[in-house]
Amino acid sequence: MNAIYLSGTGNTKHVVTLLLDELGMDSRIYPIESPDVLRAFEDDELILAYPTMFSNIPYLVRDFINSNQEAWKGKKVFLITTMGLFAGDGTGCAARLLKKYGAEITGGLQIVMPDSIGDCKALKKTREQNKAIIDKADLRVTQAAKLIREGNYPGEGLSFAAHLAGLFGQRLWFYNKTTGYKDKLKIDPSKCIGCGICAKNCPTQNIRIENGKAVASAKCTMCYRCVDYCPKQAITLLGKTLYEQPTYERNSK
Ligand SMILES: Cc1cc2nc3c(=O)[nH]c(=O)nc-3n(C[C@H](O)[C@H](O)[C@H](O)COP(=O)(O)O)c2cc1C
Ligand code: SF4
Ligand code: SF4
Repeated sequence: MNAIYLSGTGNTKHVVTLLLDELGMDSRIYPIESPDVLRAFEDDELILAYPTMFSNIPYLVRDFINSNQEAWKGKKVFLITTMGLFAGDGTGCAARLLKKYGAEITGGLQIVMPDSIGDCKALKKTREQNKAIIDKADLRVTQAAKLIREGNYPGEGLSFAAHLAGLFGQRLWFYNKTTGYKDKLKIDPSKCIGCGICAKNCPTQNIRIENGKAVASAKCTMCYRCVDYCPKQAITLLGKTLYEQPTYERNSK
């Protein structure tokens, strides 16, 4: 079983890696932005994983699914989403699309991890609380791996009730946020030192360095990687102030 994932701040990458370790399968794992990501389709069974964003799929993942329509035909796909609190049908959103392209959905897993939005006060937790969330998540992933090994794939986020919860809980009210933030990244030139970390790591190549400063285009998929890794705290997206820079590495220590 090969895996394809988007992970802005490391949570989703951790969950996928742990699940594959626990399954003990001979697997290859590809970040969605990797140039050889299509090699994942060499296997008939796949994992597709991403962070939930407003009970929806990040646009980069949706575009990836749509632009590889033929490749999904006949594939068995297990969906994973990570979330800060509530995903509704975070896996179901991708499942419906993939089924349209002929994939068989084998199951879904929705795992609570620390919140990745560093520039909003809501959902902020202490380092200890975040570590406890990760420990609980690890336990859930281990249990899910056991079920999968027994052939009982979990179906989290795939039911009609989850669909309604995702739609009315968030998607209807926040739809403009997932589609309208491609050009909303804010970089403070007075803080930026032009180190290029953001440009090098952005999965959509949305940032370039011009005259020694980072400049953003209009392709942001809201993954928060640049925001949470900038050494000068120069970047914000949804908010105007950076309260913390949450990443899996920092939260798991
Ligand atoms: C733009 C954005 C929107 C988000 N929306 C939700 C949401 O609707 N529900 C939720 O529980 N978590 C939400 N989160 C939190 C992330 O899904 C969660 O922290 C995830 O584990 C991050 O994974 P990553 O580190 O792999 O990027 C959101 C995060 C971002 C950046
Ligand atoms: S990571 Fe921060 S300091 Fe470095 S180029 Fe990007 S915005 Fe500037
Ligand atoms: S600009 Fe930043 S938040 Fe947007 S996709 Fe790139 S790394 Fe992610």
